[in-house]
Amino acid sequence: MAITLSNVSKQYGKQKALNQISFDLKEGEICGFLGPNGAGKSTTMKIITGCLTDFEGEVNICGIDIHRHPLEAKKLVGYLPEHNPLYPDLYIREYLLHIARLYHIHNPHQQVEQIIGLTGLAPEIHKKIGQLSKGYRQRVGLAQALVHNPQVLILDEPMTGLDPNQLEEIRNLISETGKNKTILLSTHIMQEVEAICERVMIINQGQIVADKSLDEIRSLSGRGIYIQVRFAPDTNTQWLAAHPLFEKTTQLTPDNWLLHAKADTDPRIELFQQAVHHNCPIIELKTEEQNLESIFREITHTPIPSSSR
Ligand SMILES: Nc1ncnc2c1ncn2[C@@H]1O[C@H](COP(=O)(O)OP(=O)(O)O)[C@@H](O)[C@H]1O
Ligand SMILES: [Mg+2]
Repeated sequence: MAITLSNVSKQYGKQKALNQISFDLKEGEICGFLGPNGAGKSTTMKIITGCLTDFEGEVNICGIDIHRHPLEAKKLVGYLPEHNPLYPDLYIREYLLHIARLYHIHNPHQQVEQIIGLTGLAPEIHKKIGQLSKGYRQRVGLAQALVHNPQVLILDEPMTGLDPNQLEEIRNLISETGKNKTILLSTHIMQEVEAICERVMIINQGQIVADKSLDEIRSLSGRGIYIQVRFAPDTNTQWLAAHPLFEKTTQLTPDNWLLHAKADTDPRIELFQQAVHHNCPIIELKTEEQNLESIFREITHTPIPSSSR
């Protein structure tokens, strides 16, 4: 296994950020790591990369225990942290050489030139990092993660804040440079997971709540619609729990429900009649086709955004 986590927990003061999470990533696997803000994605990644050492449980990188042999484990990992911290006053080459020397690699100049070519930085190479566009800064971030040719790549929201063109460029770059590497990539963008990853792990409130292949997730999608319904405050809505009209019902707040309709059914009219029967006035009703986003919402109990139908 390239990455193994066993019963990893992390507490920040009184706040529990990770609660006994365990998973394995095989060599060469590309796994999308999804979850709402505050779910514990960055904390997990800081632990895998050896940046956060104060945690419970066990982490192995290619069989090396990160607690016992932190330097050996870190040599095997490339890390692009959230918000991509860089030195704006350094020139690209100067910065990458600095990183290459930190890793004590044999031929830093040769390796840096190769990475510059690989990550498409050549056209902007004369610039300081602070003068680069966001897309090129992400390329520099990816280059520094790759400079020591690690077997494992940990990318924390590498697509956030990019425009559609930059997104496509970075997405292609990750696919190309990540060949034969094990990648854990966190993102909010479901389409990115669909484009790059073969496996999807969803974390919510410090626990892994889903771990499926993309094919499994795809086979779930396109079957039925989701209905989010809000009733008048202080009405008794418990009649909706396990209602036979629906595949699954989730109570988001006391008067707000996410209802997963059965395949090929649209129970909105019947829902309305039942609501009248139970004396529960409907204030708002939104629907959404089942897709990757809505599956994510059902698993993490997140409401449908107001832009949906
Ligand atoms: N340095 C810190 N001190 C205190 N709490 C933190 C710290 N870093 C993260 N947290 C908390 O831990 C939880 C998980 O955070 P994080 O791993 O950053 O989530 P994500 O990356 O999924 O948004 C959140 O509730 C967050 O507020
Ligand atoms: Mg984060």
